[in-house]
Amino acid sequence: MKTYTIPKTDLTVSRLAYGCMKIGGGWNDEPLSAETREAAVRVALTAYEQGITLFDHADIYTRGKSEEAFAAVWGAIPRDKIVLQSKCGIRFQDDPPGAPARYDFSYEHIVRSVEGSLRRLQTDYLDLLLLHRPDPLVEPTEVARAFDALHASGKVRYFGVSNHSPAQIALLQATVSQPLVVNQVQLSLLHPYLISEGIVANIAGKPAALASGTLDYCRLTGILVQAWGPVDGGRLLNPPPDAVPHVKATAASVAQMAAAKGVSPEAIALAWLLRHPAGIQPIIGTTQPARVQASVQADAVTLTREEWYALFVAARGERVP
Ligand SMILES: NC(=O)c1ccc[n+]([C@@H]2O[C@H](COP(=O)([O-])OP(=O)(O)OC[C@H]3O[C@@H](n4cnc5c(N)ncnc54)[C@H](OP(=O)(O)O)[C@@H]3O)[C@@H](O)[C@H]2O)c1
Repeated sequence: MKTYTIPKTDLTVSRLAYGCMKIGGGWNDEPLSAETREAAVRVALTAYEQGITLFDHADIYTRGKSEEAFAAVWGAIPRDKIVLQSKCGIRFQDDPPGAPARYDFSYEHIVRSVEGSLRRLQTDYLDLLLLHRPDPLVEPTEVARAFDALHASGKVRYFGVSNHSPAQIALLQATVSQPLVVNQVQLSLLHPYLISEGIVANIAGKPAALASGTLDYCRLTGILVQAWGPVDGGRLLNPPPDAVPHVKATAASVAQMAAAKGVSPEAIALAWLLRHPAGIQPIIGTTQPARVQASVQADAVTLTREEWYALFVAARGERVP
């Protein structure tokens, strides 16, 4: 698989990344089962053998079990051959008892969260740490203090954010001394808003974009955009019977183009993201090795401008203005 270096880092990564959110079984306090651990290793190893080198985690995924399950790969995957990324900043309800679900970018929470991730992942360092969702109560000086401590101790090499707007990134970057090198956002043909906002700005009757200019800002500042939900949780490939017509129509367009090119529908859905000049890195989330194999076919597909727009128009449900 083709690779590139994330700007402002020495991290070389594959164009597709593997998302580990679902490899730990259920989002509950039941212990990790041997079967779940084995299945996690199987799918992670398939991704690695197919050339995927960036693995995405978060402290909260299946309440820590995804990171715990992933640690079983170390016999088969050398630590220095992959880029390990995790996230922090989301806290569950009742942690501690009575507390609401919330975001927490305090120094204590960031540092404690990374220490938990390192323990579960059985590694000494994260290559990348992302702040998971913007915290309205963020104090950039506290984030800066936490990042400095984690960087100085060698526990985290590089930092980034997720689901952040340009202004939120700029606010942090004004105080944080390490460059913010990644912004992970939801993006797919069925959730194309960060792309479509750019063509409907200043058109009567169209809602003002809330995340204005995120992709352009990331291009301008050399921040790697990672796309989570790149096949919209499977709806883009296998829409449920009650899906709205435009979802079915978009999935049909993807399937039709895949058949015409003799590739998997996964390859077309992901190639649509890869074709964007922002250099978007899709994070695939399937737990099935065969679907990982179908997904990596995207690396060999380059959509023409006409093909890209045909899918965009199908997903928008209307022609471009
Ligand atoms: N930063 C954030 O806020 C955020 C939020 C969510 C996720 N993420 C990250 O992004 C990664 C990917 O997110 P995602 O899981 O939403 O991505 P996704 O790749 O769009 O969706 C994966 C889901 O789709 C299902 N699926 C795939 N192909 C299918 C098909 N042909 N038919 C039916 N179902 C199919 C998979 O089921 P099977 O497992 O059965 O294939 C899995 O449940 C996560 O693992 C996580 O690392 C980040």
